[in-house]
Amino acid sequence: MKLKGEKISMLTAYDFSMAGILDSAGVDVLLVGDSASNVMAGHETTLPITLDQMIYHGASVVRAIKRALVVVDLPFGSYQGNSSEALRSAIRIMKETGAHAVKMEGGAEIKDSVIRILSAGVPVMGHLGLTPQSIYKFGTYTVRAKEEEEAQKLIEDALILEQCGCFAIVLEKIPSSLAKIVSERLTIPVIGIGAGPFVDGQVLVTHDLLGITNQFKPRFLRKYADLYGIITEAVSHYVEDVKRKDFPSEYEAY
Ligand code: KIV
Repeated sequence: MKLKGEKISMLTAYDFSMAGILDSAGVDVLLVGDSASNVMAGHETTLPITLDQMIYHGASVVRAIKRALVVVDLPFGSYQGNSSEALRSAIRIMKETGAHAVKMEGGAEIKDSVIRILSAGVPVMGHLGLTPQSIYKFGTYTVRAKEEEEAQKLIEDALILEQCGCFAIVLEKIPSSLAKIVSERLTIPVIGIGAGPFVDGQVLVTHDLLGITNQFKPRFLRKYADLYGIITEAVSHYVEDVKRKDFPSEYEAY
C-alpha cells in the first residue's frame, strides 16, 4: 500500500461487537491497543493492563474479523525485562488470540527483544514518539521530539526498527515535519496519530473518533460521531418508557 501511495487506515478495537463493525466498514488494520486500560477499564494510564487482559481483548477481536490485519499491543512489563520474557509474551499473544502481529513501544532499548520475537516468526510493529507506557518518564502527554536531540534519536530508532525487520511503525504525537522525514527515510509503512498528514496511514482510538469518550479532546482528534449524546438520549428514552409502563407493549410480549 505504501508503494502504491494508498493510505492505510487503522483503528483500535477491544471487543467482538465493535471489531465486527469496524472490519465490515473496511478498516485495514485493527489494533488491540493497551489503551484498553484507559478506555475499557477506566485506568488513568496504560500501565496497569496485564498480558492476560490483552489476550482476552485480542481473542475477542480476532473472533469477529473476516479481513482486517489484527495487531495486539504487548503491555507494559511483558517485554522490557529481557528478550526471553518478551518472546514468551509475544508467543502467548499469537497462540492464545490468533492475532497476526504484536506492537511494542521503544527503539534501541528494546532492539534485542524485537529481534528475538521476529526470529520466532512473529511480525512486529514498532511505536515511537509519545509512548504512553513511559508516561512517568516523560511526565506529560505533550508533543514529543520538538527538540533536535530527541528528533535525531527518534529517526535513529526508526531506522533501527526497520533494520531489525519490523513491518511498520506507529509515530505518536510528534511534529508533522519530523514524521515526514521518517516516512520518507523508511521503506516500511509509518502510521501516525497526531503526527500530521505526511505519513503512510492514520490510527485513532475508536472510542475517541466515535465520540463515546467525551472528555478527551486533543487537537489531532477528529470526531466523526457523537455517540455519547446518541447513547445518552436512547437510554434516557428507554428509562422513561419503562417508568411510564410504555415498554414492553403488547407486541413486545409473549
Ligand atoms: O494503545 C493504543 O491505542 C495505541 C494507539 C494510540 C496507537 O497504541
